[in-house]
Amino acid sequence: MKPLILLATAALSFSSIARSAESAEERDKRMGWWREARFGMFVHWGLYSGLAGSWNDRMVSDKGGLEWIQSLVGADTYSYAAQAVPRFQPQPGFATAWAKLAKKAGCQYVVFTTKHHEGFALHDSKLGQYDAGDLLNRDLVREITEALRAEGLKVGFYHSVIDWHHPQYDFTKSKQLPYPANGRKVAVTPRDHGRYIDFLHGQVDELVSNYGKVDVIWWDYSSQDFQGEAAWRAPELMRKVREKQPGVIMNNRLFRIPEAGFSGMGTHNVTGRMDSQYGDFVTPEQHIPETGLPGVDWETCMTMNTTWGYNQHDHKWKSSREIIRNLVDIASKGGNYLLNIGPKGDGSIPEESVKCMSEVGRWMDANAESIRGTSASPIGKPSFDGRLTRKGAVHYAHVFSRPADGVISLPFPVRKASLLAGGAALEVKAAEPGARVTLPAGLPDADATVIRLE
Ligand code: GLC
Repeated sequence: MKPLILLATAALSFSSIARSAESAEERDKRMGWWREARFGMFVHWGLYSGLAGSWNDRMVSDKGGLEWIQSLVGADTYSYAAQAVPRFQPQPGFATAWAKLAKKAGCQYVVFTTKHHEGFALHDSKLGQYDAGDLLNRDLVREITEALRAEGLKVGFYHSVIDWHHPQYDFTKSKQLPYPANGRKVAVTPRDHGRYIDFLHGQVDELVSNYGKVDVIWWDYSSQDFQGEAAWRAPELMRKVREKQPGVIMNNRLFRIPEAGFSGMGTHNVTGRMDSQYGDFVTPEQHIPETGLPGVDWETCMTMNTTWGYNQHDHKWKSSREIIRNLVDIASKGGNYLLNIGPKGDGSIPEESVKCMSEVGRWMDANAESIRGTSASPIGKPSFDGRLTRKGAVHYAHVFSRPADGVISLPFPVRKASLLAGGAALEVKAAEPGARVTLPAGLPDADATVIRLE
């Protein structure tokens, strides 16, 4: 009798595990829209936005992430809030402007900071007083999600697990995670980190319960010495999120281990491994992996100048040409591009970002077909100055500069070549092992001229 019962129990528990685990087809289906989109907008916006890179009315820095200003100046949460809160005054309708800009640029999803490291929550939270509900009598998460959905955009929540406000967040447990008191002697009363984790789980539960469908959760972040189960009870947190949001796509930053895509603490330390129990995609920051990350889903997040949160002193803006070519480069390697804007304290978007996004949108209006729904080119870097993407039997050549003889060589046979914008046919000649295509006398698009190759 006994072995039989054992066997039956084993079979039962095996089948329930099998049922709860996601099949490859189910996963592909869940990831479908995200892989197809290729391009999203990131938004960093919180109390730091109003400070705009200044403390006591003096510039803190003209480069780097100024959403860290509290930590950069070493301010405790009270003196920080005293300066920052009065400067954070969202104008009505700000969120509609964000959504319209993302749409215009050709983005299909927007990920915005529901809470950054400073600890200020943009939703109306019942679990604390440091949130938009208590301080502004607004629910900014609701305003933003409604505006995004009105434009048909998918909704992503960035959420910082690091928290410089919560009195029980025990920063002493990690030497690698930043804290405004780091390096200074402060009287530390013992903290009960478990209570902070309860609070973290509670606020996340509010976010995944009260705002309709959440398409992405973008966690930020962990260290090698503090991550996963010990730091955030991460597996439980992810399970609870999935119960409420079965279709959600989550990044890897509740962890900092090689199996979850990290080889170290630096933003460039990416392994290209992603065991699905740790999340859905890998997050290279401020760089594009040389040959992509074959076999895993990945998304490069990047700033337009050098900061995530608004800094009035940062003028190192990338050109829209560089941004367009980054998008092309990323798509050619099978990744997504999450491009950041840092609105000001009133919610308005810096002029340079509006201009850049509009120019990207002009290019996308004509060429989105060569980005959206494409996959990595099997060719890698082509022989001409540019990149290739692929959609089934169709390849797209993105030409950055015209070769002197006006001809590009492709290592695969081509039956028909035409300009993607406007459709003009181009001359094709068979040439071992593929084909040679003659470009127009002047490239019609100086950012990237796209040739559709059948
Ligand atoms: C980082 C930073 C941060 C930014 C993020 C975006 O880890 O701490 O300020 O939000 O990366 O990738």
